[in-house]
Amino acid sequence: MASSRGEFSSRFGFIMAAAGSAVGLGNIWGFPTQAASNGGAAFLLVYLFLAFSLAYPALMAELIIGRHAHANAVNALRQISPGPVSKRIGATTGIAGFIVASLILSFYAIVAGWMMAHCLASLAHLAGMEDLASWLTEFSFSRNIVFMLIFMGLTIGIISEGVQAGIERWSSRLMPMLLITLVVLTGYVFTLDGASDGLRVYLLPDFERALSPKLIISALGAAFFSLSLGVGTMLIYGSYVSDKENLPTLGGMVTLVDISIAVLAGFLVLPAMYVALHNGVEIFNEAGALISEDTLIFTVLPALFDTMGVAGVVVSLTFFFLMSIAALTSSISMLEVPVAYTIEEHGVTRKKAVLIIGTLIAGVSTVILLNFGQLFGLVIAVTTRYSQPLLGFMLCVYAGWIWHRDSLLQELRKGNAGAEHSLFWKIWPGYVRVVCPLIILAIFAQSLLG
Ligand code: PHE
Repeated sequence: MASSRGEFSSRFGFIMAAAGSAVGLGNIWGFPTQAASNGGAAFLLVYLFLAFSLAYPALMAELIIGRHAHANAVNALRQISPGPVSKRIGATTGIAGFIVASLILSFYAIVAGWMMAHCLASLAHLAGMEDLASWLTEFSFSRNIVFMLIFMGLTIGIISEGVQAGIERWSSRLMPMLLITLVVLTGYVFTLDGASDGLRVYLLPDFERALSPKLIISALGAAFFSLSLGVGTMLIYGSYVSDKENLPTLGGMVTLVDISIAVLAGFLVLPAMYVALHNGVEIFNEAGALISEDTLIFTVLPALFDTMGVAGVVVSLTFFFLMSIAALTSSISMLEVPVAYTIEEHGVTRKKAVLIIGTLIAGVSTVILLNFGQLFGLVIAVTTRYSQPLLGFMLCVYAGWIWHRDSLLQELRKGNAGAEHSLFWKIWPGYVRVVCPLIILAIFAQSLLG
């Protein structure tokens, strides 16, 4: 089977694909919104700490297991397990991962659809088609379902082309585009009145809030979500990396790109919010909390763009285009998880697997849209706040305790001649075994008690 598996053609291709998975709505929508409602710089600091101390080591666990097994998560966890019980628990963890990945995609496609609709609305404005523009920006079942389906269609189209022609080619094109757009837009927002107030909130920490249990568990979920951890995405991308590559370096680069883009997006969204405030757009309620926390960028930002005349239309077009691209390079990585499993375990062709699974997930998205008030927030909380860190915990336990140490060390030597002398070699194996699971458990215990 291994010979027919895809592989990334180059280091650049892998970094673009993995960073493309990591960088998404979590960075540009989730992170800045959470930072804005959780004490700005305080959240930023906790997030940075967790990203480096926990998310990077957990990412490495996934990449290393994936590359060793050159297989999907279910099969990979089975391969590194010594006995029947650990094999069964490993397979269950892999299956739970692919269910969670599919559920994440089911809400992600809805939000990404809004992004695309807003992007098109700007074009409709430019063309003077105001009726169309308002249909595109107003919350309705018809708009939501049409754009969810379009977005799922794009995701399905890319994934059916496979690893190199689909994932790698599109990520390598779209990621640089995303970075340029983000930098240009941030530079522009900095020139507007009110931006400096946002910068202050983002950069001056309120330490009292930095240590609250609610903030820490949100930052944990945000860090795991942002690096696409726990659900097998990074494991499967790791399985497409050649044995010649040095994984700790590659993983480090992906983490750096991911964190930098989240931090950069904070420099865009927080100042933009305060520019909006400056222009009379309401962003806080009487209690001083953010209004419409989840939909911040769909209310505040369009209102801001509206105050900027024609320039605003262009900025809006650029911003929502950026969001759509970021979402697409992430959604393909989510769909690849169940698809790879189905191809490898059930011998189905890629095209067929993609079509069946994509349709099922679009069905789940439709159910969420039909019961939006009850399901949307619930699915997000269950998958990202709880399932991802818990599954990440399991993967650290498998890398640290279940997998035979010699085999793990041998994997670390691949593509890295002087591995034994590196800091990674000295610290990571013990760290992923003890420190990572303990931090995750401690944060959970604290949030349950707190
Ligand atoms: N990391 C992506 C983001 O920040 C979300 C994601 C989660 C992607 C899980 C794949 C798997 O938007």
